[in-house]
Amino acid sequence: MDDRENLTTGSDSVRAAVRAFYDLHPYPPPVEALDGYRQRWQDDSRRRADFHLHWPDRSYRADLKVLVAGCGTSQAVKHALRQPGCQVVGIDISATSIRHTEKLKHQYHLTNLEVYQLPVERVSELSRRFDKIVCTGVLHHLPDPQAGLRALREVLAPDGVMHLMVYAPYGRAGVYMLQEYCRRLGIGHSEEEIINLANTLLALPPSHPLARLLGESPDFQRKDALADALLNPQDRAYTVPQLFDLFEGCGLAFGRWVRQAPYLPQCGSLAGTPHAARLAKLPLREQYAAVELFRGTILRHNLIVYPDDLINNRKLPRFDHDDWLAHVPIRVPETISLKNRLPPGAAAVLINQAHGDADLFLPVNASEMRLVEAIDGVSTIDEIIYHVSRAGVGNLHQLRSQARSLFERLYWYDQTVFDASPKGGAG
Ligand SMILES: C[S@@+](CC[C@H](N)C(=O)[O-])C[C@H]1O[C@@H](n2cnc3c(N)ncnc32)[C@H](O)[C@@H]1O
Repeated sequence: MDDRENLTTGSDSVRAAVRAFYDLHPYPPPVEALDGYRQRWQDDSRRRADFHLHWPDRSYRADLKVLVAGCGTSQAVKHALRQPGCQVVGIDISATSIRHTEKLKHQYHLTNLEVYQLPVERVSELSRRFDKIVCTGVLHHLPDPQAGLRALREVLAPDGVMHLMVYAPYGRAGVYMLQEYCRRLGIGHSEEEIINLANTLLALPPSHPLARLLGESPDFQRKDALADALLNPQDRAYTVPQLFDLFEGCGLAFGRWVRQAPYLPQCGSLAGTPHAARLAKLPLREQYAAVELFRGTILRHNLIVYPDDLINNRKLPRFDHDDWLAHVPIRVPETISLKNRLPPGAAAVLINQAHGDADLFLPVNASEMRLVEAIDGVSTIDEIIYHVSRAGVGNLHQLRSQARSLFERLYWYDQTVFDASPKGGAG
């Protein structure tokens, strides 16, 4: 056998072990119904926010071709339910995951969903191209993540986007310690072994790096989640620089973090430190790498990437040019405003509930709050300013300069996405 054959056989046996694991322990845990999920996505503003998170510079479309790669038990169904106008394809290596997906597909009479038992690495066999590829929680389980990502890149449409999620190492340090512990003891993933492991973890010292995760994340309380985290046959994690190497090696370019505030030095407590100015001078990817190290708690990276050949044609929202007045801000669904226990001068504190870090809140003063409250998902920033000024709050000139800084902060803090498409701004 030559070295290449060895490599292929090695990859095949890892893939087989991963498939066998997910056949026994499908993840996420199968669900009986998705009525609440479907209901939430009836909201048109939620759909538009999701679209413009991925394509800030394109006009809204509801007829996308979507691939959910490594769809697990319900993710492809969710995509088909939330966007009835989209054609969704789900693939997964595990027969059990496919069976659960098929069951939900029939339950909800989904004619816009196709499901195939197929490894990501062989996705080209579908002979299709996709506008959007969702691959979350999968690449880090592949024997060769780069080969899997390259295969996905080949079926991405030229104007397409990918939503990727891979594990991050520092926040999961405790997970990797216990994975190693289980390997040393030869712990398997039978029902009995998992129960024994769960009971053993009750004796974990409270200061162990895994203890925080066990205590804080409801996910880790479940046996199937525990098995997925600690007994998975293949699992690797990526630091920010390793992640950039991974996708750039596959012809992809960074678009944005799905939630960007946790990676930005101008957000949260780092912004007030003596290092803030120094961090700001670094190239953006160096800033992200530094903040990942500083926070130390990032568990997974959720990001949006584009084909690298057309990246220069993409227009991200910007605030250093008059373009910003024509952007249409759309509130992100997980955001709330609090009006009690406020810092001095604040009329409210804006929070994105999906942020896990307590320092990621955005105080706004009374006139800024009027601008926030005037966001309706269809008016441009210019129209919002005009509307607020007509209500007698400050003059137009003052409001404009205040608004530029406010809307940029709303963007950083994941409070709004922007429709920055040429038509979006026409109002
Ligand atoms: C942690 S689950 C994530 C499921 C789903 N993406 C989600 O976020 O809910 C990982 C899934 O990847 C699938 N998987 C692992 N290796 C795969 C491969 N080579 N090709 C396709 N699917 C794979 C597993 O069967 C499992 O369903």
